[in-house]
Amino acid sequence: MTISEATRDQMRDLAARYPKSRSALLPMLHLVQSVDNEVTADGINACAEVLGITSAEVTAVATFYTMYKRKPVGKHHVGVCTNTLCGLLGGDAVFAALSERLGIGSNEPSADGEFWLERIECQAACTHAPVMTVDWEYMDDVTPASAVDVVDRLARGEQVASTRGPVIRDFQATEHTLVYPLDGLVNEGEAVDGKMLVGLRIAQERGMSAASVPAGDAS
Ligand code: FES
Repeated sequence: MTISEATRDQMRDLAARYPKSRSALLPMLHLVQSVDNEVTADGINACAEVLGITSAEVTAVATFYTMYKRKPVGKHHVGVCTNTLCGLLGGDAVFAALSERLGIGSNEPSADGEFWLERIECQAACTHAPVMTVDWEYMDDVTPASAVDVVDRLARGEQVASTRGPVIRDFQATEHTLVYPLDGLVNEGEAVDGKMLVGLRIAQERGMSAASVPAGDAS
């Protein structure tokens, strides 16, 4: 899709927020995905024009980071963490079940354009391993059956909530939030639960604390 003048204005606004305008490239690429569902050639060229750099430089960034996609993601991005802890606790089985349900492998869109499946790295959510994300919202403690059920409900058009509360929207809406995080949703759901605080509680019960950093050695 051709990048509209309104989107270019948003890009210029993002570029003006940084001392060095090219620092805005990462949110600009998320902006492109929020309107185009992928990082399109038009999006790359628009970023390059606004920032005064080459399309090759933009492409180098867009192809380095895995959150940027060079083909349409579809309606929902489904990630399954298969790093060490999630993998050991069932992440590989969750991925296999979703792969079979959707008929695709990692980093591939489903034939109907509804889902993108991907093996993802640690989401810093190991407390609730194995973890799956849908449009980057957490689905904690999933099983192969519960993961497939999430996809089935989304495919039927049902409203599905993350296990932490927020309602799943879609990939492009999440991409927009990554550019403009002050969308009023930041306090939706529970960010911290009892399971995440077990280590802290045990440390407090045992009177344990982190070693203090000597003055002048804070780096
Ligand atoms: S290994 Fe999966 S969230 Fe950390």
